[in-house]
Amino acid sequence: MSSKEYQIFKMDLKEKITQLKKEKNAVILAHYYQYPEIQDVADYVGDSLGLSQQAAETDADIIVFAGVHFMAETAKILSPDKMVVLPDLEAGCSLADSCPPESFKAFTAKHSDHVVITYVNCSAEIKALSDIVCTSSNALKIVESVPKDTPIIFAPDRNLGKYISKKTGRDMLLWDGSCIVHEAFSIEKLIKLHQKYPDYKIIAHPESEEHILQTATYIGSTSGMINYVKEHADQKFIVATEAGILHKMQQEVPNTKLVPAPAKEDNTCACSECGFMKVNTMQKLYDCLLNERPQIDVPEDIRVKALVPIERMLELSKSL
Ligand code: 13P
Ligand code: SF4
Repeated sequence: MSSKEYQIFKMDLKEKITQLKKEKNAVILAHYYQYPEIQDVADYVGDSLGLSQQAAETDADIIVFAGVHFMAETAKILSPDKMVVLPDLEAGCSLADSCPPESFKAFTAKHSDHVVITYVNCSAEIKALSDIVCTSSNALKIVESVPKDTPIIFAPDRNLGKYISKKTGRDMLLWDGSCIVHEAFSIEKLIKLHQKYPDYKIIAHPESEEHILQTATYIGSTSGMINYVKEHADQKFIVATEAGILHKMQQEVPNTKLVPAPAKEDNTCACSECGFMKVNTMQKLYDCLLNERPQIDVPEDIRVKALVPIERMLELSKSL
């Protein structure tokens, strides 16, 4: 072992990742649902909108996406000249999987007079079949940008679609997809928890079911929830989204009491965790940066089509 190799061997993973990142001019983009140590080594931690804005603007040579496949794909669509690596290709998404391209193509063909709005949690093929993409932080604005007399298809998340439909009064045709993590919350357990902590406010992500949303004081994207808690740091909160968010949230408001919302099934954290997000580990993060794989690629014909609705979304989000 050379002395350089020995120095590297002695370093912990965080130091190794930080050094390698500098050497390779790489940027690490992480979602709030990643493990705390991954969030702490990242250059940027954010929600789906923030992450795609960062991916579009970065001048790094390599984007290491500490998130799930559709997020890394969106980064590649926006920055085709950059290398995009994902720590583990198994980092998928139940919501994206609930919308297969062939069925969706047939569905949109049956309703060709509808504007197709798709939540970013879908594959590049689905985006390529869409008119505008949205995230949970801009869905309201995107739907409202469509003229009132134009019918809308909203896919793939039925819970977010239902919530936005209620907010806007727009009767949208909804795809029947959902997120297993947000549908795992138990209303019975949540009510019990709220009885135990009556002075806590419930905040929820709009991928959650309607009965959960009805209990919430605030509903919004992961960034929206963090901002809300920062603005009301003197209050206490029950947080109904993937439990990984508590790391960044608690860093932002160290003296605020936060409790994760309970899931139907008892599991290690008594909360809801995304098994797809959690396949990424520090070791895999280091390995993918070192070996420059697995890389994310999108066929050029699909990329070009998928770019149009994503760029429309980014343009409409400039004033958010
Ligand atoms: P946001 O972080 O954009 O709110 O999305 C939540 C989510 O489920 C990502 O997979
Ligand atoms: Fe997909 Fe839900 Fe996991 Fe987000 S939390 S990646 S929507 S399964």
